Amino acid sequence: MRNSNVLIVNGSPRKKGNCHYLISSLIEGIKENNGTFDLINLQELKISPCDACESCIRNKPKGCIKHDDMTELYSKIENSDSIVFASPTYWFNVSAQTKLFIDRLYAIHESGLNEKNIGVILTYGDEDVFSSGGVNALRSFQDICNYVNARLVGIVHASADKAGEIQNNPAKLKEAYNLGKEIIIKR
Ligand SMILES: Cc1cc2nc3c(=O)[nH]c(=O)nc-3n(C[C@H](O)[C@H](O)[C@H](O)COP(=O)(O)O)c2cc1C
Repeated sequence: MRNSNVLIVNGSPRKKGNCHYLISSLIEGIKENNGTFDLINLQELKISPCDACESCIRNKPKGCIKHDDMTELYSKIENSDSIVFASPTYWFNVSAQTKLFIDRLYAIHESGLNEKNIGVILTYGDEDVFSSGGVNALRSFQDICNYVNARLVGIVHASADKAGEIQNNPAKLKEAYNLGKEIIIKR
């Protein structure tokens, strides 16, 4: 059996932001259980919005007709067993970078995410997951997983505002590490 492969999708524009440090701990957990990973920083990519042309639905094997940096990501998704979404909370939901990526998943929503393991890392500046709006983002991921028949393995959500502040929160870093270990457990 090959090692379980995790695609990590970072939707934070900050190079050394809080998502970055939580992802570093996640990766330690993945390695601990002999998993492999691919880390994508959406901020470095050009992904345009879904145009709702429905070509992906009409011409199924061809997929999305737009050719941008998302094209390569479709095959990375296909080759992954698990996907971890990491996003800051922006305006009471996920970052725009993350939302663009999610919208483009429409092209594969009928079967491309079926039975994949999904993990979520979410940061917010407010102290509370409700008043931060983080809860909206988390609900969205729950609904997405339900809709595409994916398995939501775990969520790590953390309050941290300044870039890198999460380093002072070892309990949350440990949670991310544990998520890394759990996400690659064979189904
Ligand atoms: C454009 C923008 C919008 C934000 N909106 C919220 C928000 O709605 N709720 C909140 O609690 N924090 C909000 N924040 C704070 C970030 O969620 C917080 O700084 C987070 O730790 C950033 O994660 P990162 O360092 O991984 O990018 C916002 C920050 C920015 C730049």
